[in-house]
Amino acid sequence: MITREGNELVFGNLTNPGIVYEFIEILNSSLRNSDRNYILNFKHVKNAFPNVCVPIAGIIENLMVKGYQFEFHYLSDYLRNLSIKEPIRVKENKEIVQTSSLDKVWRFESADDIYLLIKSFVQELSQIIVCEKGVLEGFDWSINEVLDNVLQHSTKNFGYVMGQVHENSRHFVFCVYDTGQGIYTSLLQSDHVPKTPDEALKLAVSEGITRDKKIGQGNGLWGLHQIVLENTGQLNIISSSAAYNLTNKKVTVYPNQPQLPYDNGCIVDFQLDYSKEISVSKALGGYEPVNLKMESLEDHAGNIILNLKNKESGVGTRQSGEKIRNEIINLYKQSGKTITLDFSEISIISSSFADELIGKLVTEFGFYGFNNIFKLKNMKPDVQSIVQRSVAQRMIESFNGDKKNAG
Ligand SMILES: Nc1ncnc2c1ncn2[C@@H]1O[C@H](COP(=O)(O)OP(=O)(O)O)[C@@H](O)[C@H]1O
Ligand SMILES: [Mg+2]
Repeated sequence: MITREGNELVFGNLTNPGIVYEFIEILNSSLRNSDRNYILNFKHVKNAFPNVCVPIAGIIENLMVKGYQFEFHYLSDYLRNLSIKEPIRVKENKEIVQTSSLDKVWRFESADDIYLLIKSFVQELSQIIVCEKGVLEGFDWSINEVLDNVLQHSTKNFGYVMGQVHENSRHFVFCVYDTGQGIYTSLLQSDHVPKTPDEALKLAVSEGITRDKKIGQGNGLWGLHQIVLENTGQLNIISSSAAYNLTNKKVTVYPNQPQLPYDNGCIVDFQLDYSKEISVSKALGGYEPVNLKMESLEDHAGNIILNLKNKESGVGTRQSGEKIRNEIINLYKQSGKTITLDFSEISIISSSFADELIGKLVTEFGFYGFNNIFKLKNMKPDVQSIVQRSVAQRMIESFNGDKKNAG
């Protein structure tokens, strides 16, 4: 998958995780002949998956610190934007985090970075896809645990992460990488003393296994494993020379994988099927984490209220209407509660926004369903007439469409 011409490495793709191992083997061979300068050629690369980009970007950045030099050839706009060349710092790019957090390799360095990243991941996911009940909650919980582990256990104070949505297969995928001591070395210093790196990975995903009971409870990787298992998703953990894979509820462990000599590292890569419900409390054996995002939107009576004037995407475009529609369907699916859209202080909206948000909700849930789930509040007369017109048009169109489909 990587063809080598002297010091030029031509990448066949950035979607097959096997390429990470190839890259490591090439770097290892270079240690013997002390090559330190490489040209990385991406002319064949069209798509890029997190479980390839995140480790490769992290390895490159850390080898540059050790005096290696890499030149990047044929970086497409997509790869440039993804920051494979230099992972984006969360702290210096808060605005980008908040507006487009997916499809980018991020470097996080603190609990504040983690908080902001996760908030943005969850927000963005909830605006672009409709997730079944519990999926966003399960994701929010899991990614927190994995990113926190980097700060707690890796002995480095930074790590890398990227997320991506695969709409065709209804999955989203996230990969986290750190260049630290790895799981085996970390657990060697505990009471558990695993014999091999692969035994360490099996231990780490077991319930209650932590390097230090004073610091952790050993729920993080076990919980992630449970959530992925329940969802029939996929989980890969690669650390030192071992790899652990959970696919279709089946576990396979691979010992003796290629490894960099100076970096045990840890990759945690998982994907969830967002069309399948997740019960976090069931997966975690009865423990139910509080959904903080939802709480902040609830009034005293526990109803969910969304204030449109607070939405940065505005009320003018079809795109914004679609984002907010997905977001409130997700809120409804997660909570099962009625959702109030508050239009106060909004004096005008575009017809395409009204159609995308309200017209499509009415046709999707039906007039009766819409009335039971959604409430519209504080709407000015001008806005009312725009909504009235768009909804009427949308309903006529869907009615005619149904008639056509019926024959
Ligand atoms: N990124 C990492 N680097 C090194 N060791 C790790 C990393 N993530 C997890 N571990 C090891 O795996 C153990 C289990 O992790 P986890 O299940 O999250 O429990 P806890 O964090 O409560 O200890 C940790 O105690 C640590 O020894
Ligand atoms: Mg943990």
